[in-house]
Amino acid sequence: MFERASAIIKDGRKLSFEYVPEKLVHREEQMHRLETLFRPMVTDGIPCSAFLTGSVGTGKTVTAKRFCENMAKHCASNSKQMDHVFINCRIRNTEHGVIIQLIRHFDPGFPDRGFSADEMLRSLKRHIESGSRPFVIILDEVDVLLKSSSKNLIYQLSRFTDEMRGNSSISLIMISQEHISEMLDDASISSFKRANTIKFDRYSKDELKDIVKARAEEALVSGVMDDDVMGLLADIGKDYGDARLVIEMLEKAANIAEGSAGGTITADDVRSANAMIYSNVSENKLMSLDLKRKLALLSIARAIKSDTYISITRAEKTYAVVCEEYGQTARKHTQFWTYVQDMEKMNILDTVVKSEAEGGRVTYISIPNIPPKELARKLENLLDSPTSNNECGF
Ligand SMILES: Nc1ncnc2c1ncn2[C@@H]1O[C@H](COP(=O)(O)OP(=O)(O)OP(=O)(O)O)[C@@H](O)[C@H]1O
Ligand SMILES: [Mg+2]
Repeated sequence: MFERASAIIKDGRKLSFEYVPEKLVHREEQMHRLETLFRPMVTDGIPCSAFLTGSVGTGKTVTAKRFCENMAKHCASNSKQMDHVFINCRIRNTEHGVIIQLIRHFDPGFPDRGFSADEMLRSLKRHIESGSRPFVIILDEVDVLLKSSSKNLIYQLSRFTDEMRGNSSISLIMISQEHISEMLDDASISSFKRANTIKFDRYSKDELKDIVKARAEEALVSGVMDDDVMGLLADIGKDYGDARLVIEMLEKAANIAEGSAGGTITADDVRSANAMIYSNVSENKLMSLDLKRKLALLSIARAIKSDTYISITRAEKTYAVVCEEYGQTARKHTQFWTYVQDMEKMNILDTVVKSEAEGGRVTYISIPNIPPKELARKLENLLDSPTSNNECGF
């Protein structure tokens, strides 16, 4: 048992989400901007701030972590000191939770309850002051915190520095997919200048391929994956520009290949990995639809049967029946058309306008990524589960 050496995976930890590679490809510009923004802190202990924004899987979290680790190493080798802490605000989504985690960085046994917010802030300040060095706080997914609680914490943290003694200061790196300036009050905005925003664009196909290549070199046995197969992975990921999706696919494909006897990762292993991940992606997408859109999509899936396309008029006839079945009022044509367009934007549907033989133009709908019968089954399951029918839409 466990004797056989792995034929494909050399170091599985390097395929995990938490792994922070030494070198990040195609994020040199963002690293450079961070360096420029934080130079005053490293040289003179002046507090600095940065806001990192961009869509899913564009490397915001990994870049912030890599940057802080590099900066800490640089300081250590130049006989300077700095300290940093990483907080994911999706997990710690209240001010109370964030402050506790900050204090626990210095005092791991600090209790969950029993102290007021003011007392905790005072305790945090004492810890930072006694460290007598710059302290960098990374608030990842900070939009979750800003939406769920008062905006006071960011302001409090930014004010701390004015009152601090010695060489202590607080610098902030805030990360969010969405812009946060409208979520902050004016006082906090003025402390964290808008000019400090660093943008993370979606990765192109070639960039994704380089990311796959770099990760494969670290994690896989040499020579098990050829260039074309890496290209296929990047090709599948390019619509999203999301490195997480591509690395997840690489990990799944490597595991599939490990289980077969071939000793290489083939294009089919990548396709199977894609199919596994795609089914999750689409399930999440379906869950995010509100009740009205779920009903519209179910009627399209039922009406299309095994055809490639269905006209919008035929889909609407089925829609009326489906709404009745679920005790809902069917919406008018313009509203139905809006639902179709929304779902096209989400890559669930495609539409095409065709000219009819008797004149006039008709919109046809297709479902390219999933067999309609399967889609209908998934939607029926979701509609039968009372908790998944949120009414808020998007
Ligand atoms: N330039 C890169 N080089 C190597 N690996 C990368 C690069 N960019 C992203 N990754 C990897 O892709 C995955 C996703 O990156 P990361 O978690 O930083 O994305 P993100 O922008 O924070 O996404 P989200 O908004 O969903 O939190 C991680 O496993 C990360 O290590
Ligand atoms: Mg992230």
